Amino acid sequence: MMRIAKPSIFYCVLLLVFTTIGCKQNKKENQSEMETAKTESEQNPIEETIFGEMPDGTKVKKFTLKNEAGMEVDVITYGGIITRWTAPDKQGNYEDIVLGFDSLEQYLDGSPYFGALIGRYGNRIANGKFSLDGETYTLATNDGDNHLHGGEKGFDKVVWNGVAKNTDKGANVELTYTSQDGEEGYPGKLDVKVTYTLTADNALDIQYEAVTDKPTVVNLTQHSYFNLSGQLSKQILDHEIYLNADAYLPVDGGLIPTGEFREVAGTPFDFKEPKLIGKEIEADNEQLDLGKGYDHCWVLNEGEEDFGLAASAYHPNTGRLLEVYTNEPGIQFYSGNFLDGTLPAQTGGTYVKRSGFCLETQHYPDSPNQADFPSVRLNPGETYSSRTMFKLSTK
Ligand code: BGC
Repeated sequence: MMRIAKPSIFYCVLLLVFTTIGCKQNKKENQSEMETAKTESEQNPIEETIFGEMPDGTKVKKFTLKNEAGMEVDVITYGGIITRWTAPDKQGNYEDIVLGFDSLEQYLDGSPYFGALIGRYGNRIANGKFSLDGETYTLATNDGDNHLHGGEKGFDKVVWNGVAKNTDKGANVELTYTSQDGEEGYPGKLDVKVTYTLTADNALDIQYEAVTDKPTVVNLTQHSYFNLSGQLSKQILDHEIYLNADAYLPVDGGLIPTGEFREVAGTPFDFKEPKLIGKEIEADNEQLDLGKGYDHCWVLNEGEEDFGLAASAYHPNTGRLLEVYTNEPGIQFYSGNFLDGTLPAQTGGTYVKRSGFCLETQHYPDSPNQADFPSVRLNPGETYSSRTMFKLSTK
């Protein structure tokens, strides 16, 4: 029995050893499965680094959002600025397609709103004044006689709080900022949240939200200057623009809309079919003279969808196509007319006149003073909500 028992004990021990090893191996396998799963859920890790330091010591963070396709978008907490955005050309080469700077100092030294979030009010308010419920509010006149892009220290010049995370829609960064009652002359304490999400199909989806504790006006936008050629110091005249608009808003000498909705048909402002920016930009036209090129708000056609295609830009040489979707009623197409070659470009050379164009989705300029324009009023208890998506592809 003993003789029989001995081997059985031996086998039992052996079995136990193997089982234990097996279990351990299973555990290891499970563990490596878990590691893979972890890697999968974190396959687009969002890099967070320090971009620079404000004069008061506040650190400015930089988040790099990535997707599976290889697109990368750098967002800094100063101004919510997109400093770099890579997109593939038709050969699959990724290049930066937005104007920007390498260092925080350059942004602090003076930037024409490169890549920045704009608030509380995108574009101009005539004479820096508007009335709400019988009270007149006075804002900074930081553009001749008018107020531009939120004033002396708009949302493009403040440090936002930034939190990045991976979501099922893609890597995103949520920026929040509280603008105090009276800041830059605007009434009401405004809590703002802007979320940039980079999706798997090369779109940057931007969601803007705001709430106030007093009636106020709000019109937020994004001021990226695009150059789809990837050669950021070159002019953008060779890009084809499409604007889904039958009318635009003519301006006066201070670039304030006159209040007229003018048909684009038969004018250089007609982009209902894609047209090269350079084709008619130098045409003899009073409105082009006033804007020194294109610097106007187009009245977007109302489609069946609430969130439709508003505009596109195509660069034939590289094949890059940018599509802009929004639920805003207007789009400011600005052809970079005030760039003057004094600022250094990231890719060498300088940012010359018309080396970038902006497609700023928004309510119309000067709406607080124009009764016929859609309202930009926000009341306590309401949530300002606006969405714009910039989608890149090639053709
Ligand atoms: C305006 C231009 C202005 C530019 C500032 C644009 O949104 O329409 O007139 O010069 O911003 O960079």
